[in-house]
Amino acid sequence: MMDVGRHPNIKLLTCSQVESISGYVGNFHVRVHKKARYVVESECTACNDCVEVCPVIIPDEYQQGLSSRKAIYIPFPQAVPSAYLIDMNNCLGTNPIACGKCAEKCDKKCIDYDMKDEIIEFDVGTVIVATGMDVFDPTPLDEYGYGTYENVITSMEFERLLSAGGPSDGHFIRPTDRRKPKTVGFIQCVGSRCEQRGQPYCSNICCMNTIKDTLLLKDHYPDIEAKVFYIDMRAFGKGFEDLFKRSKEAGVQYIRGIPGEIIEDSKTRNLKILVEDTTANKMEEHEFEMMVLSVGVTPRLDMPEVQKLLTLSKTPDGFFMEAHPKLKPVDAPTSGVFFAGCAEAPKDVKDSVTQASAAAARAETLLAAGKVKLEAITSELNADLCRFCTICAQACPYKAITVDPKKKTISYIEALCKGCGTCGAECRFSAIKMKHFTDEQIVSQIDTYLEEDSYDKVIIFACNWCSYAGADTCGGARLQYPPSSRLIRTMCSGRVDEKFVLHAFRKGAPMVVVSGCHYVDCHYIDANRWTQKRVEKLWDKLERLGIRPERLLLEWISAAEGRRFAQTMQDIEELRKKVTKEEIEHTIKILTEEEEKERQKQEKLKK
Ligand code: FES
Repeated sequence: MMDVGRHPNIKLLTCSQVESISGYVGNFHVRVHKKARYVVESECTACNDCVEVCPVIIPDEYQQGLSSRKAIYIPFPQAVPSAYLIDMNNCLGTNPIACGKCAEKCDKKCIDYDMKDEIIEFDVGTVIVATGMDVFDPTPLDEYGYGTYENVITSMEFERLLSAGGPSDGHFIRPTDRRKPKTVGFIQCVGSRCEQRGQPYCSNICCMNTIKDTLLLKDHYPDIEAKVFYIDMRAFGKGFEDLFKRSKEAGVQYIRGIPGEIIEDSKTRNLKILVEDTTANKMEEHEFEMMVLSVGVTPRLDMPEVQKLLTLSKTPDGFFMEAHPKLKPVDAPTSGVFFAGCAEAPKDVKDSVTQASAAAARAETLLAAGKVKLEAITSELNADLCRFCTICAQACPYKAITVDPKKKTISYIEALCKGCGTCGAECRFSAIKMKHFTDEQIVSQIDTYLEEDSYDKVIIFACNWCSYAGADTCGGARLQYPPSSRLIRTMCSGRVDEKFVLHAFRKGAPMVVVSGCHYVDCHYIDANRWTQKRVEKLWDKLERLGIRPERLLLEWISAAEGRRFAQTMQDIEELRKKVTKEEIEHTIKILTEEEEKERQKQEKLKK
């Protein structure tokens, strides 16, 4: 942090919040709200005189509320810059000045109650999102009594208690009687790996954090008895297994089983647990003077705001989604945006540093090149055909299109387009063409598939990243699916235009399937929400026309779900067999008449 603060090429904005980011790769414009510190940081020598006279005492967030701070304070010892700031929410008041003791005491006259918030604007070429994570709050887990039993603490509080700069100056004491405990128990996976009691994912860092904590504990106090209750210890990184062994050699006992409840003895304030040791296959009772809940990590609460700023997407666990999990693990789906650390997934310090270095290198590569390669598959806009309805602008997940219906203008930044094709599918005036997935190309695939024996075919529109890859997985695993299936690949299910579906029915398809990635997995942020809306509208339309809507299916199949793909295709085949020739011919007749009516309407409009 000191290096960052001193680096000539890095501008560090503390107490600041990004308000907006506009533009695109190489041309981002950033607007930052820099909050007033009320202390002139260049003058402050951090002498502490102001802190001594401040009469306000409130819990110190950095010390997990285990000690207090003043209204004028340094957030944490290693903070850069090492200068005080005034917490205006807790200061006794500066307008009119109700206290003013810090200003009176400061010889250097660094306190400036009139300091104002600032808005800073600047341009950048790339953005790295390193917004970190939050720690799971175990208060709702009544069974562990956190918040009720003072001697039940979290792993974060344990770290502060053991730290030389902590609330007890590094003396490990139990909160109720402030003496050193003789026995300490650790419970793993609190808030992790269980959807009902927190998050379904593994938080990645808790096992090694506990191993490290037990080693520190044993280093400082070899006589303290420590036991760890776990589901499985995940010591998978370089040197991690050694550390685990060292902890066991130091006398820490590891018991495979998670206690169901912590009960406090009201006299001794000791904590009792009953646990099934699944290795020994027996129930055991243990008593500790202190219990540490090894809490997991959660996505930050303000992630939705960051998500909106940069049009990012999230994975089902709530962290930001990378452009590709294997090939672009630090890139965001938005060009020029990269991830570092726990914003993307829970990770330890080493992995965060690795990812941060990779993100910096990826950003630097772009900046050094001075130009970017665009996607080959993008939209092409014909402004002459545009009627400024704005639907394409609403549908574009990357905000590549801007329409002003009053001024009758439309602008399109190709560098922002990723080629999902949702805009093209939504445009009713053929003003948008998708390169490599044009209407003509898709329609001619439908025509070819249905040229002969259309009654025996099922047309399946499959998105490139999930459903089509799911069909590949199915084939790779040598799973059988009916030969009636005819797949048409689109980059995203958002590209599947209503007219493609109707065309397939008009050409005699008994069944049509639109398939794509699961809801939050769409590779184009949330383009598949438009697919859902479109298919729902189509179901209504088919019903209105007297065509069974059950003949159009919407399926979400991921790349890993080869078996599911095969099963779905078999189920659809059963449905296909129930569609009679008469029904198909009736559909063809209705839709041909509809097409003719539509054509006449368009001609009238042109006149
Ligand atoms: Fe698969 Fe959008 S990429 S549905």
